[in-house]
Amino acid sequence: MINQDGKLALQHLVTMETLSNEEVMALVENAQEYKKTNPSAQSLKEEFVANMFFESSTRTHKSFEVAERRLGYKVVDFDASTSSVNKGETLYDTVLTMSAIGIDVCVIRHPQDSYYEELIASPTIKSSIVNGGDGSGQHPSQCLLDLMTIYEEFGHFDGLKIAIAGDLSHSRVAKSNMIMLKRLGAELYFIAPDEWHTDEFDEYGKHVQLDDVIEELDVLMLLRVQHERHHGSEEFSEAKYNKEFGLTHERYDRLKDTAIIMHPAPVNRGVEIDDDLVESPKSRIVEQMTNGVYVRMAILDAIMNYRNQQKLDEENK
Ligand code: NCD
Repeated sequence: MINQDGKLALQHLVTMETLSNEEVMALVENAQEYKKTNPSAQSLKEEFVANMFFESSTRTHKSFEVAERRLGYKVVDFDASTSSVNKGETLYDTVLTMSAIGIDVCVIRHPQDSYYEELIASPTIKSSIVNGGDGSGQHPSQCLLDLMTIYEEFGHFDGLKIAIAGDLSHSRVAKSNMIMLKRLGAELYFIAPDEWHTDEFDEYGKHVQLDDVIEELDVLMLLRVQHERHHGSEEFSEAKYNKEFGLTHERYDRLKDTAIIMHPAPVNRGVEIDDDLVESPKSRIVEQMTNGVYVRMAILDAIMNYRNQQKLDEENK
């Protein structure tokens, strides 16, 4: 929702499809403004934000924290391994507790797909929920930082040829990105072994071989092979994967001069991408991480706009 004063206001951010294109672009443009001004609050604001990561994370967790501290919010760290989750407490009851003790925003990463549904449906939980990744579901803040990185490069999405390559079926990054990139006018290609490509991708783009499209691409978005979600199901040969689906030097040279390479990271160097290409001129992998802080500032700002508006409405009742 765009407020009367033109500011974006969001109660929660859990999936991408609930955002309009206008809201997505407002977040991207606000993030670009933060990148330009790079503010760092000198005094603490009233609001508390808790980062609740039930799956490992470096970039998402720490860039949310930097974003929160840059904006001056009080950051409450939550360690799943020492919380009452160990006594069998559910996610619902954990977040209910956070809400009861006055946490305004819970940033949550959890292995269960759509874990957030019961949280945002609860009449008792007052905290806003920001999804830092749900299982193989969605990863909205990663999607927004990817959109920001592409927009910085090309200034638009319309007609861009974008390939998403790798572990599609396990990737929440692929899911969020395919929904938004298609809606914003990009032409999508999916590149993956048959067992990682399901019918759900057909609605969004074509299943192709990397070598058949590489010269045409504007963006090559690589995905990490998610070994932790494979549960030892199939034999995996890194060398074979790299040869068929990886960005090798030979393929790098065939990309257009203006093409960019992206990867949400962590990167399996030498598998999805040859080691030294991670920091090559066409790579935006490092820039993506930097942009992650500014996009997360824009998300928190939109959430706080909603909460402040709510407070005002309550006061004026
Ligand atoms: C991604 C994730 O956790 O979904 N990483 C990230 O947030 N930067 C992708 C991945 O783990 O492969």
